[in-house]
Amino acid sequence: PVLVVDFGAQYAQLIARRVREAGIYSEIVPSSMPVDELLAKQPAAVVLSGGPSSVYAENAPSVDPALFDAEVPVFGICYGFQAMAQALGGRVDRTGRREYGATGLTVTGTESALLHGLPESLDVWMSHGDSVAEAPEGFAVTAHTPDTPIAAFENVDRRLAGVQYHPEVVHSQHGQEVLRRFLHDIAGLKPDWTPGHILTEQVEAIRSVVGTEKVICGLSGGVDSAVAAALVHRAVGDQLTCVFVDHGLLRQGEREQVERDYVAATGIRLVTVDASAQFLGALAGVTDPETKRKIIGREFIRTFEAAAADIAAAEGGVRFLVQGTLYPDVVESGGGTGTATIKSHHNVGGLPEDLTFELVEPLRTLFKDEVRLLGAELGLPPEIVQRHPFPGPGLGIRIIGAVDAERLATLRAADAIVREEMTAAGVDAEIWQCPVVLLADVRSVGVQGDGRTYGHPIVLRPVSSEDAMTADWSRLPYDLLARISGRITGEVAEVNRVVLDVTSKPPGTIEWE
Ligand code: XMP
Repeated sequence: PVLVVDFGAQYAQLIARRVREAGIYSEIVPSSMPVDELLAKQPAAVVLSGGPSSVYAENAPSVDPALFDAEVPVFGICYGFQAMAQALGGRVDRTGRREYGATGLTVTGTESALLHGLPESLDVWMSHGDSVAEAPEGFAVTAHTPDTPIAAFENVDRRLAGVQYHPEVVHSQHGQEVLRRFLHDIAGLKPDWTPGHILTEQVEAIRSVVGTEKVICGLSGGVDSAVAAALVHRAVGDQLTCVFVDHGLLRQGEREQVERDYVAATGIRLVTVDASAQFLGALAGVTDPETKRKIIGREFIRTFEAAAADIAAAEGGVRFLVQGTLYPDVVESGGGTGTATIKSHHNVGGLPEDLTFELVEPLRTLFKDEVRLLGAELGLPPEIVQRHPFPGPGLGIRIIGAVDAERLATLRAADAIVREEMTAAGVDAEIWQCPVVLLADVRSVGVQGDGRTYGHPIVLRPVSSEDAMTADWSRLPYDLLARISGRITGEVAEVNRVVLDVTSKPPGTIEWE
């Protein structure tokens, strides 16, 4: 793999994704990993990420010069560029001048393996205080900015290069091309990491672990569990049984989509448990968001446990549980480097202690966009693989106030209109998701038809995001918003007002509860 050394900024995951987009498998390792341990992983190349430290700070993470003796190709980015310069005998200075945000880069190295043929001036994304003042011996300096005389360097013979800016962010022009040139041209790597490759590899891994044992999987209706289950099914067929809990908090048509489209596409054995009455009973009169979540979580476990016990009884035992855990979760929980398909005897998602399955987590090494590609490769329809995220507690946390059947019907109708109009306008791919929220405890006066009404507002919360950690409100076209508003107030009896949430995250979260 290409190893991305994480110096503690949020960019390491983005770099790892970009490396994979260039067709080469990558993994993230902490900067605290000793160099011999890192080299034992036989990296095809190493990328040193940016980070929040100054190389002068006490305990600042550094690069062990032994890395450069190993003749592994290395690319330094931002802090990684400076740490690399320092480790190779160059000099890093505190210039006292910070460059932050879009900056003009002037390319001077017309022969540069990294930058040749690109426009002479590029807008790139910068974020640094210190600067490389002297390049290491044998390195050609190939670009500068107004405040940074050394903004890129390379030593092609030693397959080493680096840039002061962030080529991984979309704001850096030709950033992906620069990364690609390092990987393909300087490091000499072949781009052969594809979804088809993942599929074959994972199917084999699952077969060898599961053998002839039985497996179950809870389907949430979301992309991750749908793809994980389809993959396991491809590997072990009807040894897998899926459970879909209808908690009554689903959106319009969701259950049918799972029962019909998903089963048709995969041939998976599916058990649906209709537990809506039980969930609504337990939620009656509850308004506090955390309490709602706890109740929904608890009822979900009860239901799933009962279904699992039934299946185990019918199948003569079930040993494995499939989980759709993704690579970002693995990295964030500090767990391994993602190569293991299996983590045994471990409870996740709040499943109780005595429900002991061994976990099969076939998506542990993948990012969300790769899961989507894999799903398509497995033959899942676009409506399933391109779905926007939807929270486990469902509409239960999108009704502000107590949840009941009538309010659910109102929200479901409004939400269906929003989804329909957004799809028709072709904006689905532009946004991350668009929660539709019913302010059930708020009333507003309106006039509809001949009379005064006293109804409820619906909130639209369209957001753009890369990973849901931060988000911005999406600038949807006004005429689309007008159509949505006109239809909701016209077609949904209880609603006489539609409002738009224009808050970024932070300070707002994506969901309202
Ligand atoms: P927030 O509201 O925290 O949401 O900005 C971030 C992302 O997580 C989703 N979300 C959930 N997903 N169970 C889930 O499976 C939950 O309880 C839950 N709460 C929020 C939310 O839709 C957004 O994509």
